[in-house]
Amino acid sequence: MAIEAAALLAAAGLPRREARALLAHVLAVPREALIADPQRPVPTAAAARFAQLAQRRRAGEPLAYLLGYCEFYGRPFAVNAAVLVPRPETETLVQLALARLRQMAAPWVLDLGTGSGCVAVTLALECAAATVLASDVSSAALAVARANAHRLGAQVAFFQGDWLAAVRGPFDLIVSNPPYVAAGDPHLAALRFEPAAALIGGDDGLAALRAIIKAAPSSLRSGGWLLVEHGYDQAAAVRALLRGAGFGAITTTRDAAGIERVTSAQAG
Ligand SMILES: C[S@@+](CC[C@H](N)C(=O)[O-])C[C@H]1O[C@@H](n2cnc3c(N)ncnc32)[C@H](O)[C@@H]1O
Repeated sequence: MAIEAAALLAAAGLPRREARALLAHVLAVPREALIADPQRPVPTAAAARFAQLAQRRRAGEPLAYLLGYCEFYGRPFAVNAAVLVPRPETETLVQLALARLRQMAAPWVLDLGTGSGCVAVTLALECAAATVLASDVSSAALAVARANAHRLGAQVAFFQGDWLAAVRGPFDLIVSNPPYVAAGDPHLAALRFEPAAALIGGDDGLAALRAIIKAAPSSLRSGGWLLVEHGYDQAAAVRALLRGAGFGAITTTRDAAGIERVTSAQAG
């Protein structure tokens, strides 16, 4: 007994794009195959599997966890519940880092809080001259990052530890997308499937940024750069922290949505 794909998609209670992605995943076919042949018969077992995934998506689980991967900077990164789902705004951080790295001959780069490895792996693949190190406190996240680096063919050295504790500089550039949501932020309810340690930056959201900005100067070469992603309302606080830590050339860049998202600063 089989059911028509179009009927399943229509009854899923999801945006068509998401429903199609899930059904294509279950059937192990490209999404275009469902567009080209909407009457395609779906076997009962596959329809049941699709119904389970659609239910989990309706309950708020990220599509990327259900599919097992997420696109970042044009590449598929495997993800699971141990890592943050890479966000499009983090591509701004990567673009700024690459612009700096491409002006350097053989730069040493560190990605702090690497999660899925999306930033470190992208930097390594986009800038062959760079030596890329990455760290995370979570061994489960590091397993995902290592697997992504291996599958995508990136040379990244991974370390487990609290921010800079497990790595030795000096670096030409340190980049980080740290947890920056405040503990009581109501947006956390919608993010409940992702690891709290990847999201929450203490009571005011700035705890991780404070720790990184404090520790970074001793691991940066003179003239080296620190680039941090932060929340939509944190740019002024981050600039003040950077000034207080002795950084210069402090600049905030907006993401594609026009939100102040990444602040760059140069070590003295
Ligand atoms: C916002 S996620 C960013 C993940 C990835 N870099 C990205 O942009 O998608 C923050 C990461 O920081 C890690 N983290 C949290 N506290 C840490 C700490 N004290 N030291 C090192 N990493 C930490 C989390 O495990 C998480 O993977």
